[in-house]
Amino acid sequence: MTLLALETSCDETSAAVVRDGVVLANVVSSQITLHAEYGGVVPELAAREHLKNLLPVAQSALAEAGIAADRLDAVAATQGPGLPTALLVGFKAGQAIAFALDKPFIGINHHEAHLYSPWITRGGDGTVAADFAAFQPNISLIVSGGHTLIVLVASELNHRVLGGTIDDAAGECFDKTGKLMGLPYPAGPEIDRLAGEGNPLAFAFPRPLLHEANDDFSFSGLKTSVRYFIRDHPALLDDGQQVRDLCASVQAAIIEVLVTKTLRAARRHGVRCVTASGGVTCNRVLRVELERACARQKFQLRLAEKSLCTDNAAMIGILAERKLAQGAPVSELDAEIKPGWALA
Ligand code: KG4
Ligand code: ZN
Repeated sequence: MTLLALETSCDETSAAVVRDGVVLANVVSSQITLHAEYGGVVPELAAREHLKNLLPVAQSALAEAGIAADRLDAVAATQGPGLPTALLVGFKAGQAIAFALDKPFIGINHHEAHLYSPWITRGGDGTVAADFAAFQPNISLIVSGGHTLIVLVASELNHRVLGGTIDDAAGECFDKTGKLMGLPYPAGPEIDRLAGEGNPLAFAFPRPLLHEANDDFSFSGLKTSVRYFIRDHPALLDDGQQVRDLCASVQAAIIEVLVTKTLRAARRHGVRCVTASGGVTCNRVLRVELERACARQKFQLRLAEKSLCTDNAAMIGILAERKLAQGAPVSELDAEIKPGWALA
């Protein structure tokens, strides 16, 4: 099956062409620089950019894959969750393309797609393909700017959300604490970089819900304690080394909670595999700490490749193709977006 997938749930315009589990092309056009001056994603601007970029991005994906549009067998697009006006662009375009080609269309849950991005691997010859043959029941951590989820994936296409954040997402915590330090949006990658030369033990910040017997997260209290700490030590921001220490200390608090709670869920559910994806999974220390903890506790770890941690249409396409192959119902061509579509 050859399938075109579109993803426009937030600030990444992406199109991918997938054939029989192989990602033939995955084109991503990021809007980060556009939103940076506003300190966060502006929904209306995001939608306009998607409108401008979606067809060129889809055409480049088809060209890169060497596939003419009339050779597609199906079309998929992210149906939710996400920013309503942003979702509308990709979802309605996907339906229109499917209608024009008279091919089936399927709407995909963005978070469900994240569950499978760690199974998309790059072979020695550069081929990017889904490695479902290696699939194992797992606990999957999805950490992005909008979400922090722990999901039990008991078998392929069969999952249950165990917990999520009750306030800010982990990426939001990186971004908001970074903003308090005067770092540009999105601050996550900048904190990662500065923390590399900082001391994670320099300052003690709370590890929210670390010892609670549930799979939920809460990061807004951590953000508040960073706010008070900076208010009480304003001179600290003028000292480069202290800023690096602050970055490393905040990062260590977020990561300890993420790693500890993810592995605890894996132990409790008796799975032998842990996976992670979402923008925050690009974080170098998170990747190392997950590797260390999984090695120590003898879990197999599958981290999404960095380019597939952030939003991309390849994961949408891989899941869509798998679903269609396993007989999942197609979506109506007048189906609507689901901006608040929570993963169950
Ligand atoms: O998945 P993503 O690209 O978009 C959504 O939020 O859906 O995730 C973006 C988030 C931002 O909060 C960004 O600061 C964070 O991921 N992020 C990082 C790193 N790279 C991206 N956080 C910490 N360390 C990083 N290296
Ligand atoms: Zn995402």
